[in-house]
Amino acid sequence: MAGHRGMVGSAIVRALLAQGVSPDHIVTRTRADLDLTEQRAVQEFFAQEKPSQVYLAAAKVGGIHANNTYPAEFIYQNLMLQANVIQAAHQNGVQKLLFLGSSCIYPRLAPQPMAEDALLTGKLEPTNEPYAIAKIAGIKLCESYNRQYGHSHGVDYRSVMPTNLYGPGDNYHPENSHVIPALIRRFHEAKVAGAPSVVLWGTGTPRREFLYVDDMAAASVYVMNLPKAAYDAHTSPMQSHINVGCGEDITIAELAQLVAQAVDYDGQLVQDNSKPDGAPRKLMDSQCLANLGWQSHTTLISGLQQAYADFLQKHTPHNAQTA
Ligand SMILES: NC(=O)c1ccc[n+]([C@@H]2O[C@H](COP(=O)([O-])OP(=O)(O)OC[C@H]3O[C@@H](n4cnc5c(N)ncnc54)[C@H](OP(=O)(O)O)[C@@H]3O)[C@@H](O)[C@H]2O)c1
Repeated sequence: MAGHRGMVGSAIVRALLAQGVSPDHIVTRTRADLDLTEQRAVQEFFAQEKPSQVYLAAAKVGGIHANNTYPAEFIYQNLMLQANVIQAAHQNGVQKLLFLGSSCIYPRLAPQPMAEDALLTGKLEPTNEPYAIAKIAGIKLCESYNRQYGHSHGVDYRSVMPTNLYGPGDNYHPENSHVIPALIRRFHEAKVAGAPSVVLWGTGTPRREFLYVDDMAAASVYVMNLPKAAYDAHTSPMQSHINVGCGEDITIAELAQLVAQAVDYDGQLVQDNSKPDGAPRKLMDSQCLANLGWQSHTTLISGLQQAYADFLQKHTPHNAQTA
């Protein structure tokens, strides 16, 4: 389990434990103990542990600001860590690996909802292009190993592309977080301060899709364990990735109302229309996964309530960690 302390990786560990996998059978290392960008260390780890499956949920991840400020780190670290893990996995007989990508692999102007075959059909969003290129390379690494070593070594490396995720383990940093954790923090702070209103950036009209992270983890385990014939029947050797979303999008204004409800903030929501909106719509086409028999089940309001409980747990004085 690469990335077990991250939001997605920790959710996958929860999912595996809930399915009865023994904790002794889940091999993890902190980054301090194993930096996945270090090729020799990764090879030694695989030679020693000989895992039978690999979930690759480790990545250098960040918002627009971080992607724009550290583009070299985003492309270098992600290329290195995924290439090291995939190559060492293959060299050590791992037949099953799941690579976690992102919806930013799709072109900026991809038709909505974005289907798997939109990959490599147009220009990427420039702000996170280096990150997206690394993620596309991760998909192509998996496909290339399947094509070269599938028959001879039984290699079966799969990729899933999550939509926007939220939930326990999210990053609530005041300046550098995604929309849901940012709204949770702002509404919570307004509630505590008794502020009569909260300002929302933009017109509130862009539409976005959100998936609860434990649903993403369940989908990851589901895709990993699908029979090969089923996976192959719904993908092709050079288009093997599968989108994971909930299939529905909502406006940012509607989202803000739901977060206010989850946080129990009853002040006013005021829009600042002078702030930028971003793309009008971003929705994944998750029909392929639905055809394979998986659908998300956590409603947005229930997921937001669970996310807020996680926020409170981390931000009450006696439990507080660095946010
Ligand atoms: N969050 C989302 O909304 C979202 C949406 C779509 C796709 N995804 C994808 O899901 C995957 C996981 O994302 P996440 O949100 O769980 O990210 P995250 O919370 O930042 O977790 C990433 C994990 O990777 C580890 N890591 C990074 N570089 C490493 C290295 N060189 N060696 C060892 N470990 C390293 C981090 O360790 P440290 O804790 O030590 O830094 C962290 O535990 C990523 O591939 C991401 O693209 C996420």
